[in-house]
Amino acid sequence: MKRLGIISLFVILFMAFIAVWNISYQSGMEEAYIPVENTNPISLIPSETGVFTRSKYALDYVNMPVDEQHQRVLKNYYKNRAFHGAPPSIPHPVEDERNMGDNSCLKCHQNGGFVNKYDAYAPVTPHPEMINCRQCHVPEHTKQLFKETNFYKADPPEVGVNNALQGSPPVIPHQIQMHENCLACHAGPSAPKEIRVSHPERVNCRQCHASNNKETEDIGIFKRTNNNEQ
Ligand code: HEC
Ligand code: HEC
Ligand code: HEC
Ligand code: HEC
Repeated sequence: MKRLGIISLFVILFMAFIAVWNISYQSGMEEAYIPVENTNPISLIPSETGVFTRSKYALDYVNMPVDEQHQRVLKNYYKNRAFHGAPPSIPHPVEDERNMGDNSCLKCHQNGGFVNKYDAYAPVTPHPEMINCRQCHVPEHTKQLFKETNFYKADPPEVGVNNALQGSPPVIPHQIQMHENCLACHAGPSAPKEIRVSHPERVNCRQCHASNNKETEDIGIFKRTNNNEQ
């Protein structure tokens, strides 16, 4: 009788052990992610999540040797834009003139990489979700102006002078709109060498880098000087 009692006690303890172990195993399997309910009336800009999406490549970027032969420089970066912040023109042939973009562009521009035929690294697009690429990006068909104008390109902000103190994080000298996805332009082999970040793995860029809220000067309404009526 005594022996039976001890055996059944052990059986009960063993079953209890299995049950407790099972519960803790199952809860270990649950995802740590708690879905965030979007109760914020201000909806997020999809490109803003881009930094976090691209952060999985950050450690690769840190460990990648710099390809000295094919580094982009800011001078060429600016040459391709009508003014600071303007969408760059497409500097290479496009396959189908009537194609709006989407997959035909994203196969190279979603994650970048070296393209032999253009002998350059494809710059990563900061906004893969805006699929009508050619709404804003067009090939350049001529280098000449149709007509002389008084339009001039304002100088872009300087780099390397935006730190309050030596070693402190520089302020962001450009607007954030259309620049939400920091890693696209600042990390990887296609980033212009002057602005390639030494720490792409610190994902939350704006935790340390504040916007430069300098008010932009109102330059008035731009009027051509060569209008026909003049
Ligand atoms: C075969 C790969 C490939 C495809 C497809 C491709 N590109 Fe490119 N693209 C490149 C490469 C490489 C560069 C860099 C060229 C250079 O620096 O000389 C580039 C440069 C650009 C630039 C200039 C970026 C800058 O910062 O100056 C724009 C804009 C662009 N492409 C848009 C497009 C669009 C829009 C499409 C689709 C219609 C497209 N590309 C399709 C490889 C590609
Ligand atoms: C609503 C207009 C708009 C659309 C649509 C758009 N872009 Fe852009 N794109 C811009 C602007 C503005 C910039 C940033 C210019 C700057 O400040 O240098 C830019 C920058 C870029 C760059 C340069 C990144 C770098 O590192 O130099 C690439 C490449 C690019 N876009 C590709 C694309 C592709 C591919 C698509 C389609 C999937 C696309 N864009 C759709 C306006 C647009
Ligand atoms: C479309 C490409 C692009 C995107 C996206 C972008 N930047 Fe920039 N960034 C530049 C360029 C080009 C410069 C050089 C100055 C200029 O032209 O405004 C620059 C300059 C800077 C500088 C100053 C560097 C120095 O040495 O003075 C900081 C800091 C910076 N960016 C942070 C950011 C952060 C943070 C984000 C994301 C919110 C971001 N950038 C998104 C292109 C980009
Ligand atoms: C923990 C704070 C912190 C975070 C997060 C951070 N940075 Fe920085 N960043 C700094 C500091 C500090 C410097 C100045 C380094 C120096 O002068 O030696 C700097 C410098 C820079 C520069 C100038 C070039 C260079 O590498 O020195 C750029 C561009 C830049 N950061 C962009 C970024 C981007 C893009 C991100 C997000 C991927 C980011 N930073 C995240 C603190 C930070």
